[in-house]
Amino acid sequence: MSQLLITGGAGFIGSHTCLVLLEAGHRLVVLDDFSNSSPEALRRVQELAGPLAGPRLQLIEGDLRSPADLAQAFAAAPIEAVVHFAGLKAVGESVADPLRYWDVNLSGSRALLAAMVQVGCRTIVFSSSATLYGSPESVPIAETARVAPVNPYGYSKAAVEQMLADVCASEPGWRVARLRYFNPVGAHPSGRIGEDPGGIPNNLFPFLSQVAVGRRPSLQVFGSDWPTADGTGVRDYIHVMDLADGHRAALEVLMAEPPQLLTLNLGSGRGQSVLEVVAAFERACGSPVPYDLVPRRPGDVAATVADPSLAERRLAWRTQRDLEAICRDGWAWQSANPQGYGPRGD
Ligand code: NAD
Ligand code: UFG
Repeated sequence: MSQLLITGGAGFIGSHTCLVLLEAGHRLVVLDDFSNSSPEALRRVQELAGPLAGPRLQLIEGDLRSPADLAQAFAAAPIEAVVHFAGLKAVGESVADPLRYWDVNLSGSRALLAAMVQVGCRTIVFSSSATLYGSPESVPIAETARVAPVNPYGYSKAAVEQMLADVCASEPGWRVARLRYFNPVGAHPSGRIGEDPGGIPNNLFPFLSQVAVGRRPSLQVFGSDWPTADGTGVRDYIHVMDLADGHRAALEVLMAEPPQLLTLNLGSGRGQSVLEVVAAFERACGSPVPYDLVPRRPGDVAATVADPSLAERRLAWRTQRDLEAICRDGWAWQSANPQGYGPRGD
């Protein structure tokens, strides 16, 4: 059992990972400013974890960029390792407001690392993204592929990856995992926690499930002329519970092995097209989901699929849940919570 700090633990991936880490016996301090999440998510995580594990989660409401808030989080308990989810993640928004992205994602991560140095904590798992591969030269994508971001969000992730490599080079003792997620989707099978984006969703899954539940009239399928089997975009969708389990495995490996810098793709290794996803979701929700084929979305690529073999070897981990499970669990969440966790003032 370890004492962990989880930044951004109330968010989509953070909340599911908090549950898995509580169930694995860890004690958690969550630092979140709720800029893109609701405290209700953590309340439900505690409820799902049960009366024994639930109280092992402690919440500090605060901003990653604030040294005072970070000091409060590190003072709450002697932190052995950090799982760093907090950040901004909308590609289009990063193009429109790049300075905010550099501020939260880069300056926030720098402040976190400085606070870790101060308290002598040298173990961190970082949420990186397949977005930093940009438009890949070929698929599946291995970790050795060129890092070539195409938007400010991707550049901010690449910059934090570099900062982590730099601290590892600066002194021995750092244990760092840079986890490059492909497309995280789905929800806890209970339907109690899931993805609850503010405003109009940018991503396929939350948009599709909001159409299925009647919140939006129809899905726009961006591009039917891609060089893929059915002409629609292909992605590697990973169930958020598999992703959460990947974090647990990465932490265990970091803490058990000598100090190291690990860089791993977390994906399923399978590519699915937008139309395949729509068909699977229709099977899960039991009714047709209206959609229109529209022109390509600027900045999209035809296909991204992970080569997850390195993560499978290093973490003794692999995805367990397929697209059917993703859609079933995603629908369990959306149908039981048509308005997500409720109003957040956005
Ligand atoms: P999310 O927005 O649901 O979660 C992020 C959490 O961080 C939220 O709870 C938010 O309130 C919090 N936060 C934001 N700024 C903060 C700040 N300054 N101080 C404290 N807390 C702050 O996003 P998510 O989908 O759970 O993503 C988690 C991480 O994974 C992010 O770093 C994201 O870039 C990365 N990632 C996500 C995806 C994806 O498609 N969801 C893909 C690859 C990588
Ligand atoms: N799509 C639609 N209609 C929509 C939304 C998406 O057809 O309303 C299509 C896209 O064109 C793409 C596929 O569905 O072919 C997936 O799109 P998403 O927006 O769900 O995901 P992306 O692959 O574009 O990007 C996501 C995150 C990035 C992250 C990347 C890899 O938004 O931040 O996954 O992890 F970097």
